[in-house]
Amino acid sequence: MPATATSSHRRAVRWAAVWLVMVTLGSLGHWLFWINTPANDGPLTAEWLRRAANLVFFPSAPFALLASIGLDIWGARPLLTAILLHAMTWTTLLTTLAIVLRARARLVKPPANAQPTPPSRGISRRRLLVDASLGTATIASAGPIVHGVIDTSFDLRVERYTVRLPRLPKAFAGLRIVQLSDTHLGPRIPAAFIRRAVTTALDLSPDLILLTGDYVHNGERQIAPAAELFEPLVRSGRPVVGVLGNHDWYANGPLMSRALGDLGVAMVDNARTFLDPDTRTLRPDPIGLCLAGLGDLKTDRIDPARALDGVPDDLVRLVLAHNPDTAELPHVVAGPRIDLMISGHYHGGQIKLPLLGHPVLRSPHGAKYIQGLVQGPACQVLISRGVGMSILPIRLGVRPEVVEVTLLPDA
Ligand SMILES: [Fe+2]
Repeated sequence: MPATATSSHRRAVRWAAVWLVMVTLGSLGHWLFWINTPANDGPLTAEWLRRAANLVFFPSAPFALLASIGLDIWGARPLLTAILLHAMTWTTLLTTLAIVLRARARLVKPPANAQPTPPSRGISRRRLLVDASLGTATIASAGPIVHGVIDTSFDLRVERYTVRLPRLPKAFAGLRIVQLSDTHLGPRIPAAFIRRAVTTALDLSPDLILLTGDYVHNGERQIAPAAELFEPLVRSGRPVVGVLGNHDWYANGPLMSRALGDLGVAMVDNARTFLDPDTRTLRPDPIGLCLAGLGDLKTDRIDPARALDGVPDDLVRLVLAHNPDTAELPHVVAGPRIDLMISGHYHGGQIKLPLLGHPVLRSPHGAKYIQGLVQGPACQVLISRGVGMSILPIRLGVRPEVVEVTLLPDA
């Protein structure tokens, strides 16, 4: 066999081996973390491992989204789907890489009429230019992605807000609330990270803890362990109030609600409870501060009358609603008064790009309800960037957060 045929054969075997390793790693990872959802304790839940797994999965994300698998719609044969997904991903990526390397080889090859370069002169200027350009392009595109997947996505921050409410009684001036939202226990987010968020919340020593939905990412099996993660909040003796998000309903809304309720979280979807001004405990009769909730916009009904009718007018009403677009609904705007709506859902857009803004998670109201404290048509709305992720295993320029709100009377 001629020498060139042998070397091209070897090269093909090497490419095939790389393809096989990456398809196997990707499919195995998808099976372990996405489809089979392992136990939420043990070595597979370590944060560093999930960061690494998210990085291995990332190249398949655009293909997964095209096939709806990014939305966790896996079909009847999930393992076969995962193998096909990674086969397609790595065929495309390695073919692209081979084309780039071939183009590079052509570019660095000296012109036919050029003088041969003596070995002592080292790398040619042409080769240096081509490699520097390729290296810069690779770092510029891959660098932010790697940083986003392994660092930004798990770089938990505490975001502090002060909200002034005209009717706030003296007893609640300075009341500190901590909000945890969109923890998304599941393939992208391990239990260890949510425990870190819970510990951060408790370290802030809040008077009241609010949970605004999406406790699980994609399955009924995650419901019990997801609820269990909030047990330290209840055990601390602080009042904990929550509503469900759309992902909880995709899994099993009533089951998620029951799991949190059994733990001691007051679930207030289209209902309310009250915070006693003296004992700072929850009670059913109207006194102190009204803590109401509305159903999720996409998956539940939204009944402000059921949540708020009969609440004395002089009580401040805080309303938990997973999706902040709820604030724009005509029957919410025209319904009983709300003083502050507290929401999550959009994960701060999850990805923020220069000039493009938030291309992944969009609200019908543009960037208005993506994050922060904003004025809605009838009330202020506080929107958390959340703890976890959905759709893509990455946050870019949008860090996860625990929110701390201090309530003050109007100046
Ligand atoms: Fe979410």
